[in-house]
Amino acid sequence: MGKMKGKMNNDFCPQSLFLYGNYQPDGTPHFGLFCWFSYCHIRDGEEEGLGVMACIGEEKWTKDLIRQQGMFSANLVTRPLLPLADYYGTTSGRDNPDKMLRLPTVESGQVLHVPTIAESPVSFELKVVEERHLADGSDLFLCRVCNVMVEEALADEATPFLQRLLQADPVITAGAARYASLTGEDLGGWGEPGAAEE
Ligand SMILES: Cc1cc2nc3c(=O)[nH]c(=O)nc-3n(C[C@H](O)[C@H](O)[C@H](O)COP(=O)(O)O)c2cc1C
Repeated sequence: MGKMKGKMNNDFCPQSLFLYGNYQPDGTPHFGLFCWFSYCHIRDGEEEGLGVMACIGEEKWTKDLIRQQGMFSANLVTRPLLPLADYYGTTSGRDNPDKMLRLPTVESGQVLHVPTIAESPVSFELKVVEERHLADGSDLFLCRVCNVMVEEALADEATPFLQRLLQADPVITAGAARYASLTGEDLGGWGEPGAAEE
């Protein structure tokens, strides 16, 4: 079968979902949901190592906090976290001062002053090395991974990696504004899992 000219979108480019976390000026935690997230190798002064590229669209509370503090956490979204994650992704922090009345179990970062999520099996602590303005309402944050916390069972290399990955049960978004599991189950459209739990 041949190829045809496709629509200009990123369907068929599965993305893992992450909850970005920061402390607000009053010390309470804040989370937003993000998928434009990938990896790179980065230099930060004298240090070099694993980095992250996080693209944040229009101005929002998460971006304000990342700019203020120069750091954030990124917590992998799994199936049990999806309703809360969806709520965080469809509720504007700027417009809803009460957004954080719904909270996961919050822990403190080990290396950076960022809130992490106990229910998430993988949490990154990220320091912003550079911000690049790409276009109106589009900014890229290049970050160094300063620490990774991973659930003990997932770090056990005696278990084959794919088994551990499926055990983590991450949620992806693969196109058409829907959520899916790694095994191909449809987990609802953006805005649905969070609304169902209200
Ligand atoms: C599935 C999903 C993925 C999202 N990914 C991104 C993203 O990568 N970049 C972005 O700027 N916004 C993304 N958003 C939108 C933010 O989550 C949304 O703007 C939210 O209000 C951010 O929280 P805040 O307003 O408290 O900062 C996504 C939303 C959903 C539902």
